[in-house]
Amino acid sequence: MTLASGVAAGSIAHPLAGYRSEFPIFRDRIYLNTCSLGPLGDRARRKVAGFLDVWQARGAAAWYDVWWEALAELRTRYGQVIGAAASQIALAPSISVAVGAVASALDYRRRPKVVLTALDFPTVVYQWLAKRPLGIEVVTVPSPDGVTVPVDAIAREVDDRTALVATSHVYFTTGAIQDIAAVAQVAHARGARCLIDAYQAVGQIPVDAPAAGVDFLVAGGLKWLLGGTGIVFCYVRDGVARELTPAMAGWFGHRDQFAFDPNSLEFHDDARRFELGTPSLTAVYTQLGGLEYIEEIGVPAIRRVTAALVEDLVARATEAGFTPRVAAHSEARSAIVTLPSADPAGAVRHLASRHIVADARPGHVRLSPFFYNVQDDHVAALEQLAAQRSH
Ligand SMILES: Cc1ncc(COP(=O)(O)O)c(C=O)c1O
Repeated sequence: MTLASGVAAGSIAHPLAGYRSEFPIFRDRIYLNTCSLGPLGDRARRKVAGFLDVWQARGAAAWYDVWWEALAELRTRYGQVIGAAASQIALAPSISVAVGAVASALDYRRRPKVVLTALDFPTVVYQWLAKRPLGIEVVTVPSPDGVTVPVDAIAREVDDRTALVATSHVYFTTGAIQDIAAVAQVAHARGARCLIDAYQAVGQIPVDAPAAGVDFLVAGGLKWLLGGTGIVFCYVRDGVARELTPAMAGWFGHRDQFAFDPNSLEFHDDARRFELGTPSLTAVYTQLGGLEYIEEIGVPAIRRVTAALVEDLVARATEAGFTPRVAAHSEARSAIVTLPSADPAGAVRHLASRHIVADARPGHVRLSPFFYNVQDDHVAALEQLAAQRSH
């Protein structure tokens, strides 16, 4: 088994494998769980250490230059990853909060219906399930194959009573890539808005939010942007922000925040109207460091490597007698591969006992290679999964 941080002899090294040495977790384990939580890279750690030094040395004085600028820099750099301007980006501490702020701003009086899908992450769905007592109708479009949701099926549910279509760019259990431009089109055709949860997409596949025409797109640090917990963003399409007034507010959404005026609430004109309270600077700095990897390599280059890794993993798993649950065509597959398992929690524990980090989802073990993974990681994980299965 290969546990060293280098690439083992015999494996076909890809051009990004050298980055592995910057992720210390690979020194004593194989990490195949980026879709849960990206591993900590050296650059992210250094950024946080720098932030702590400034906090220690300067305290609150750093707000007015360094830290304020760090927030602006993060909005700019998040925007660049998805082809957007800084003014189209609002920062938030979690997807739940970002989506909650958007949900608070929609007008449900003439359009009480929200269309979601059976494969979306629950935190997105819960925003509207929580509003059912207020008369919101939640329609969940089923997935015929348990892997993806046909856009036609979504279209059939969208009508002129629909306020919003909300679904994912990459489905979190199957890794299937949804055509978000087509989702935006079916929403807009009936006058509805469209929100995309791209937490499992941004960083691992190229995303151009303005080109896709979506109204809102949320993503963040936790997974493929290598920024850890507590920092996400919400992209808001030009023109949409000004049409919506949030019913959930904080002083970061106020256009003149430092006036400290408790008598009037004047929202920013742009995406920042959806911002709420003070961000976690530790999270901001972790993300600024993690983003360096994504920017330096570039998402298209990342995608080239991970697409090949995914095909390798699927082929090896199939050969080992597993039936990976992934999209039928490789272009619709992303770096999330789930393998049906009779005892997913037991399988993940077994992998952990062999220093391999993976995750369990109902009925499945989930493996997610990224640019620092190599084919030998797949060999090692599948060997252990086969051994566990035969017991
Ligand atoms: C697609 C997707 N959306 C949202 C979340 C989590 O949302 P939150 O930031 O509210 O915890 C996850 C997983 O952590 C996810 O995979």
